[in-house]
Amino acid sequence: MIYLDNAATTWPKPESVSKAMKDCLQNYGANPGRGGHQLSRMAAQTVEETRRLLAQLFHVQDPKNMIFCQNGTHAMNLALKGWLRKGDHVITTGWEHHAVARPLEAMKKDMGIQVEYIPSGTEGPVDLKRLESAVQSHTRLIVSTHASNINGVLIPIEKIGEIAKKKGVPLLVDAAQTAGMVPIDVESMGISMLAFPGHKGLLGPQGTGGLYVAPDLPLQPLIYGGTGSRSEDFQQPEERPGAFESGTLNTPGIAGLGAGIQFVLEKGINEIHRYESLLTQYLVDGLKRLEKVRVFNSEYPSVSVVSFTVDGVEPLEVAMILDEHYEIAVRAGYHCAALAHQTMGTDQHGTVRVSPGYFNTKEDLDQLFEALDEIVKAFSGL
Ligand SMILES: Cc1ncc(COP(=O)(O)O)c(C=O)c1O
Repeated sequence: MIYLDNAATTWPKPESVSKAMKDCLQNYGANPGRGGHQLSRMAAQTVEETRRLLAQLFHVQDPKNMIFCQNGTHAMNLALKGWLRKGDHVITTGWEHHAVARPLEAMKKDMGIQVEYIPSGTEGPVDLKRLESAVQSHTRLIVSTHASNINGVLIPIEKIGEIAKKKGVPLLVDAAQTAGMVPIDVESMGISMLAFPGHKGLLGPQGTGGLYVAPDLPLQPLIYGGTGSRSEDFQQPEERPGAFESGTLNTPGIAGLGAGIQFVLEKGINEIHRYESLLTQYLVDGLKRLEKVRVFNSEYPSVSVVSFTVDGVEPLEVAMILDEHYEIAVRAGYHCAALAHQTMGTDQHGTVRVSPGYFNTKEDLDQLFEALDEIVKAFSGL
């Protein structure tokens, strides 16, 4: 099978990831921070080591501000629901995934928050002048994806960060398509909160993710309960990270995530980005050479996500044939981002999405091109 669906979750994972998970399950599968025994302490050490690695990766000074979550969506919900209040005004972009758009739309309905979506500009994927002038006195948050999961376009977060700083509004970034693949420095990019999955570019297992929260941002927890600390007290403790991590953590997953991040740090993010960009360019060039294939790559810098359609064939059918006849895994449809499809003008049928990862090769893409060529010929009777 050729796996080209890394934007959904990366696969395969480095061998060290499964090893770390197995080691945790077999040798110290106790509850971290619950009970003072050796095994619990070992589990807690693993959790804290992964937290430290995450802090190192995103240039976070104090790892306590890094909170473990189940996935990117969980992290985003914690950020939005823990920060926004009735009547707040929120500015966001036309590129958002449902992980952002759906909670915002629900909060609009339930709490009367106001949401303003900023469209593309003539000079970039987001009209920055319009974004800046959209800031009002009751604007409580700017939230933006770092890269689209439809065409990979990179949003200029540094520039949005500058506007956010100037206007004194916190910036929340959805790094689902960039964490582990593009350098991120929360300090220099002006990011107040960073939501990310652990199972994509960080090469960890599914069921992992996290949220960075700036030290001075008074976020409320999403989930209340036991934290392993202050057990005599009925009130939720305020200390980070425990305040936001009620209930037993996914220790085996976090062990695997730690190994994934180690791999990323050893290879180097710049090297990963360089290799994936090379594959993406090869992919775009190859797709563009095919007859009856329309490519929706971005005209601006992007990550390794490319969408296309085949004239006269539904995206879902193309993906099904690639899967069943050619053993090539891609994703088709709307990719949980109806808003981004509206922005791109692909909201009628969606697209086929190809997302190569660090373990793919040009040969994998050659096989995709051959398969698509045959599909096009079969459907057009050539
Ligand atoms: C841009 C974007 N945001 C958020 C998410 C949600 O991440 P998760 O699947 O880890 O909840 C995804 C996942 O595809 C995504 O592409």
